[in-house]
Amino acid sequence: MSSRGLILGIETSCDETAAAVVERGAHALSSVVASQIATHARYGGVVPELASREHLRAIVPVVRAALEQAQVTLADLDAVAVTSGPGLAGALLVGITYAKALAFANQLPLIAVNHLEGHIHAVLLQERENVTNSSSAQNAGAEAVHEGEERENSPEQDALALVVSGGHTHLYLAHPSAGTWRYRLIGRTLDDAAGEAYDKVAKLLGLGYPGGPWIDTLAQFGNPRAVPFSFAQVKTKAHLAGKAPRTKAAKTAPIVRLDPRFLFSFSGIKTAVLRYVELNGLRTEADARAARLYPQNPGSERAVATPPQTKEEAQTLCSETTLNLVASFQHAVVGDLMKKTFAAAESLGAQRILVTGGVAANRELRARFGAEAARRGVRVSFPTLALSTDNAAMIAAAAWPRLLTCEFASDTLSADPALALR
Ligand code: KG4
Ligand code: ZN
Repeated sequence: MSSRGLILGIETSCDETAAAVVERGAHALSSVVASQIATHARYGGVVPELASREHLRAIVPVVRAALEQAQVTLADLDAVAVTSGPGLAGALLVGITYAKALAFANQLPLIAVNHLEGHIHAVLLQERENVTNSSSAQNAGAEAVHEGEERENSPEQDALALVVSGGHTHLYLAHPSAGTWRYRLIGRTLDDAAGEAYDKVAKLLGLGYPGGPWIDTLAQFGNPRAVPFSFAQVKTKAHLAGKAPRTKAAKTAPIVRLDPRFLFSFSGIKTAVLRYVELNGLRTEADARAARLYPQNPGSERAVATPPQTKEEAQTLCSETTLNLVASFQHAVVGDLMKKTFAAAESLGAQRILVTGGVAANRELRARFGAEAARRGVRVSFPTLALSTDNAAMIAAAAWPRLLTCEFASDTLSADPALALR
C-alpha cells in the first residue's frame, strides 16, 4: 500500500451518482455527487429505469471529477470501494461494473460496502476528521485536550446508530472488533422508511421532491401541536407468525427476536395525513400547488423548484391549515424516532448515538435529539449536511478498515438489492 491510504469510493444505489477520494478513512479529499432530482421530480419519486440510465451517463465524468478535485491519479490509489447493496439492482450494477473494471485495469483491490454501513461511517469520517483537526491544533500549541476526554470522544467505540433515510429506518449497535466493525440489528421499520413518509406526504400535499427539505422548511412556519398525530405501539404478532415482509426495506433484516419497542411503522401517519387532507378540503389547494411547481408540459424544462425560505413566501404557497399539518406531521415523526432511539440506547446502556441518512439533515430532528441527549448525558453525533444524504465519501470511509484487514471482494461481486448489514 502507498503511504497515503487512498480509496476511491463509488456509490450508485439509488438516485445519486457519487464518487469520492478519502485518505485513511479520515479525510475526504473530494466528494462529488451528481443528483438526479431533476429527472425524478416530476414523478414525485425515483423511477428505477431512469435512475440506471442517468448513472450510466454520469459515472465516468463523476469519477473523473472526484480524482481531479482530490488532485490524484488512478496510480495514486490503494483500492476502489463500491456500494454492493441494498438498493436498486440496475442502479447498483452500474457502479459495481465500473468499479470492477477500474480495479482490474489498475490492479487495485476491490472492496464491497453495504450502503447502510456507509451511512454509519459518514458520522465516523466526520468524527475522525475532527480528531485529526483537534490534534493538529494541539500540536500547534492550542489548548490541551485531556487524555481521558480524547478517549471518550474517540470515534472507534460502540455506538447505537439510527440510519434514517428514504429507504431505511434501522437501529444498529455498531461495535469495533478486531480492526473492523460489526453491527447488530436492534430495530427497524415494518413498512415505510421515515424519508419515504416525508416524500409521500409531500407528494400528496403537492409540494416539491424530495419531500424532506420542503417539509423541514415549511414546518418552521406552522404549529406543531395543531394536529395530534399519534404512533400506536407496533403490533408484531402477525409478522412474528411468519408472514412475508411487506416492503423491500423490511427484507433487509428479519424482525424475529427484535424488541417490539424498537420497531417503527410510518405507513399509518401517511394515511392519517391523507384523511386529514380530505376531511379539511385541502385537496384543491394541493393540486393547484403541484400544477404550479411542476407543470405537465414536456416542452418546458423548468428548473427544479426549491422550498420557500421566508414565512411570507411559505404563506403564498400554503394555507395556514396546510402549514400546521406539515409542522404536526414532522413533530410526530421526529418524536417517534426520538422515543424509540433513546429507549433502545437506555436499554442497551449505549452512551453514544449516531444519527445518519438523509432525514438526519432535518433541523427539528437535530435540535430535539441534541437537547434530549444533553438532558440524558449521552453523546449524539450527526454527519455534516452534505454527508447526511447519499455520497461516496462515506463508502470510501467504510472501506478503510476492510483495506487494513484485506477483506476484498471477488471478481464475481454482484448487486444485492436486499443486502443485510452484519
Ligand atoms: O440518504 P438519502 O440521500 O437516500 C437514501 O438512502 O434513501 O435520503 C434521502 C431521503 C429522502 O426521503 C428525503 O426526503 C430525506 O432523505 N431528506 C430529509 C431531509 N433532507 C433529505 N428528510 C427530512 N428533512 C430533511 N431536511
Ligand atoms: Zn442512503
